[in-house]
Amino acid sequence: MSAPLRVPPGGTIGIIGGGQLGRMTALAAGALGYRCHIFTPEPDSPASQVAWRTTLADYENREALDAFARSIDIATFEFENIPLATVERLAELVPVRPGARALAAAQDRLAEKTFFNDLGIATAPWRPVRNLADLAAAVEALGTPSILKTARLGYDGKGQTKIEAGTDLAAAWRRLATDTGVLEGYVDFTHEISAIVARGQDGALAAFDVAHNVHVDHILATSTVPAPIEAAQGAQAVAIAGKAAQALDLVGLLAVEMFVDKQGRLVVNEMAPRPHNSGHWTIDTCRTSQFEQLVRAICGLPLGSPARHADARMTNLIGQAVALGVPALAEPDAKLHLYGKTEIRAGRKMGHITRLSPLSGS
Ligand SMILES: Nc1ncnc2c1ncn2[C@@H]1O[C@H](COP(=O)(O)OP(=O)(O)O)[C@@H](O)[C@H]1O
Ligand SMILES: [Mg+2]
Repeated sequence: MSAPLRVPPGGTIGIIGGGQLGRMTALAAGALGYRCHIFTPEPDSPASQVAWRTTLADYENREALDAFARSIDIATFEFENIPLATVERLAELVPVRPGARALAAAQDRLAEKTFFNDLGIATAPWRPVRNLADLAAAVEALGTPSILKTARLGYDGKGQTKIEAGTDLAAAWRRLATDTGVLEGYVDFTHEISAIVARGQDGALAAFDVAHNVHVDHILATSTVPAPIEAAQGAQAVAIAGKAAQALDLVGLLAVEMFVDKQGRLVVNEMAPRPHNSGHWTIDTCRTSQFEQLVRAICGLPLGSPARHADARMTNLIGQAVALGVPALAEPDAKLHLYGKTEIRAGRKMGHITRLSPLSGS
């Protein structure tokens, strides 16, 4: 384990990435007395709007990155699709939590699946695909339906295509437009769930309740707690996330997306070493939100209680659905969060609503 590091309130947290996850992290950090400095290539980013400072530069801009590093006490990142070299350079100058190791394992689906399988944790059956011949052999081995995904840079269902019995494999491989992909067997699931754990510098773990996630068009639509699964399955999901965080020696947050298959088994889909969309309900529902927990973990403060004081359903406001946001302010049990994005695009996450209900017995 790396040497203990304490960044007390008053310090400056650098956040790589300017999206809504950075925005909500900066808001939580502000409540604890920290300043946030955002590094992003996007002008007027959601995170910049609520942060102390922004460096507007490409992730490859070494000079800007070095100056950014000199202005902060610790760095974190709010999405995975940043060059590993950016985080590695940053880590030479300032502590980065989580570190490059967690990022490397999460940003490449082949590395990610290998990581879980090496821990004895089930994923969908998979094969690496580097060319059309690989794809044909993989389809032969795994059957159909199956899903072909790019190894890197996918999100919200981008970079994936379903392979059915009659699918033209050459066309599917061309469409993916990559030199490294993965074919996954299709998991016939009853539920998609996610477990989010925080891990402190001392190795302490704190887990949020497992959420039930419903995706529409491959984009998260709702997350609900408690998830309608058996308590033992919830406990197993949390154990998987904790085991993975430990194996990565991760300091910060780890979210693990899983399927519950028709036999009730948990099958890991993917992980993210950062706050996760399926944890947004924690802001209004838990003693400590996922964002505050991230700040506590990376700054070496005690982790907070992840206990829930209500049941909740988070609904993403995607594209034009952002119009449903302001009317929800009239609902007594709804909490609205908007991300400050001025341009509405189809499939773009504009905000979310968390609707609370009394804590059930579970
Ligand atoms: N192997 C699979 N079997 C069944 N459904 C899948 C599989 N892989 C992905 N999906 C569906 O597509 C969604 C998005 O895929 P995911 O791998 O999580 O990519 P992204 O990086 O876009 O979130 C999943 O949440 C799930 O609903
Ligand atoms: Mg996903």
